[in-house]
Amino acid sequence: MTGNQSAADPPPLLEVRNLVKHFPVHTGLLGRKTAVVRAVDGVSFAISAGETLGVVGESGCGKTTLGRAILRLIEPTSGEILVEGADFRAVRGKKLRAMRRHLQIVFQDPFSSLNPRMTIGDAVREGIVIHRLAEGAEADRRVRHLLEEVGLHGEIANRYPHEFSGGQRQRIGIARALAVQPQFIVCDEPVSALDVSVQAQVVNLLLDLQRDRRLAYLFISHDLRVVEQVATRVAVMYLGRVVELATADALYREPLMPYSQALLSAIPVPDPVTRRERIVLSGDVPSPANPPTGCHFHPRCHHPGRDAACARISPPLEEKAPGHWVACIKQPPTTVPWDVQLQHGATNPPSRYLPDLTAIRA
Ligand SMILES: Nc1ncnc2c1ncn2[C@@H]1O[C@H](COP(=O)(O)OP(=O)(O)OP(=O)(O)O)[C@@H](O)[C@H]1O
Ligand code: SF4
Ligand SMILES: [Mg+2]
Repeated sequence: MTGNQSAADPPPLLEVRNLVKHFPVHTGLLGRKTAVVRAVDGVSFAISAGETLGVVGESGCGKTTLGRAILRLIEPTSGEILVEGADFRAVRGKKLRAMRRHLQIVFQDPFSSLNPRMTIGDAVREGIVIHRLAEGAEADRRVRHLLEEVGLHGEIANRYPHEFSGGQRQRIGIARALAVQPQFIVCDEPVSALDVSVQAQVVNLLLDLQRDRRLAYLFISHDLRVVEQVATRVAVMYLGRVVELATADALYREPLMPYSQALLSAIPVPDPVTRRERIVLSGDVPSPANPPTGCHFHPRCHHPGRDAACARISPPLEEKAPGHWVACIKQPPTTVPWDVQLQHGATNPPSRYLPDLTAIRA
């Protein structure tokens, strides 16, 4: 359990426990299953109302699969998804539809996420009708109000998606998600396809809506600067696993997992006369169909204490400081005792490593 919940607390809005999504890979003429892509491989966390959990990591680490598996847009292989304590994976039919209303998604690509043959008004109205939240003139009024809430004119309801820019379409996508009054929205790279000048406007819109409606977001992005602006806590993913989970403040100030350190060191410094030490990650992300043994990150790790045990022990996600969870057996404290590390070929005792990532004048 990666939180500080006591037995008396109400359950969190959303909790995932040991969520797994494996994709079988079929090759050859007979289409036999030859491998398994471990896209999401045992992820656990909780999100409260009004909170944003940022999810970061390189391409292919499982962010989108995680978001979709939580919403059951793809069925998870195993694990639990609890919505206000209720087992979301157990529901079917009408009950599934009713619960799904509270869990929505905003997609990365505002150009393909809207049906080109549907008017903006019909796109926003669709969920209202399906979930029987309103009809007739009341539904029209809600659509207009939603469009205005996301910063568009209510009169655009009769127009079609091709008439709008990427930023406007993303606002329409947000209005569509909001129409069914959700409590939780997966935002999968919601601003990555937008011009930088438009990104800030859409991020501010999401923050305003969150404040007004106490929405919870799972905010997926490979842009750590955007995540820093929006996230309360951040989960860093590597090859299907969460390798660090901390408040945004703790993660950006004191990243403990060497992978997070490398990601943060790569954030461009806005001031051209300053620079920061860059930890260059060697090689590409390994395939999730054939991840390295032990700590998946060991072939690329720069921690000075890395040794043979790193290739043999799978590091548990453990609480190194209150609320700061890290999967690394070389960052103290660790629950993996030194004698166990020795049995697995360790030569370097755990010793804290924190690179200086402050930007300095070049
Ligand atoms: N339907 C599928 N069948 C087989 N493999 C899949 C499928 N969907 C995703 N994968 C694989 O699962 C892994 C995780 O993919 P995913 O799209 O979740 O990553 P991501 O972190 O969202 O990447 P990006 O930053 O590029 O969006 C990748 O190796 C991907 O190729
Ligand atoms: S467990 Fe070892 S290889 Fe993995 S991040 Fe820590 S030091 Fe690096
Ligand atoms: Mg993705």
